Amino acid sequence: MLPTDPAALPLLRHGRLDVTGRIVDASNATLLCTVHCEGVSAECVYKPIRGERPLWDFPDGTLAGREVASWLLSEATGWSLVPPTVMRSGPLGRGMVQLWVDTNVEHGLVDVVAVDAVPRGWRTVLRAQDRFGNPALLVHADTEAIRQLAVLDVLLNNADRKGGHVLAGLDGGVYGVDHGICLHRETKLRTVLWGFLGDQLSPAVLDVLRRVRSELDGALGTALAEHLTQAEVRAVRDRADQLLISKTFPAPNGHWPAIPWPAF
Ligand SMILES: Nc1ncnc2c1ncn2[C@@H]1O[C@H](COP(=O)(O)OP(=O)(O)O)[C@@H](O)[C@H]1O
Ligand SMILES: [Mg+2]
Repeated sequence: MLPTDPAALPLLRHGRLDVTGRIVDASNATLLCTVHCEGVSAECVYKPIRGERPLWDFPDGTLAGREVASWLLSEATGWSLVPPTVMRSGPLGRGMVQLWVDTNVEHGLVDVVAVDAVPRGWRTVLRAQDRFGNPALLVHADTEAIRQLAVLDVLLNNADRKGGHVLAGLDGGVYGVDHGICLHRETKLRTVLWGFLGDQLSPAVLDVLRRVRSELDGALGTALAEHLTQAEVRAVRDRADQLLISKTFPAPNGHWPAIPWPAF
């Protein structure tokens, strides 16, 4: 099922959830499931709250709640960058359930390449060494959707945007996943998408940010408050205000490692 299919959300909310596997390298309990309802089915990810490892720097709420709040913000932008995500009960208790996105693994959007092999138009984030010690560059694609994802990450204050959390959907869409450590009130932006640093935000992006900012004072703020503390919801408003004032992609603040490690 495609992430844009309107049937996805009701299916995720109300379908029967059967666990089919587990993502082994995941740090928390991340389960693969099939969700079924009236002959329709889809693959999804299920992260039960019970399987969350406590994090000293994210003591409030739940990681699952942060994933749902991140989806709410993505939906508010209209950019549909986060696959449909809901909070519900399941075989291992309450947790987040997110539609699985079929991806094009051949065409990653973030890569490490030799210094002379940057794909045309891509942005360079930093110079590093590959596993053989040769100089290499961390690079990412430059498309409207990747720019939108970079802006969403600033709003989300995403502390873990690894290359492996940027998916090239088979449907042509770009999707971000793994938003368990987003939306802290202190700046913790840690991402591989720094290639736009200092660039101006487009008028279209600014329009979206203005609309989202006003919705944060209404229904969107109320919906987020189901999953976040009041201070965290205020911090989302502050980050939106900051983007609307600076009108540019921000730079790392220097008080926090700017790039997740490992980067993928
Ligand atoms: N909704 C999704 N659709 C497709 N692949 C996904 C989805 N969610 C996660 N994945 C894949 O599974 C991996 C592990 O999931 P992730 O959410 O990162 O778990 P964890 O929180 O344990 O790191 C991701 O890096 C990604 O490759
Ligand atoms: Mg992950």
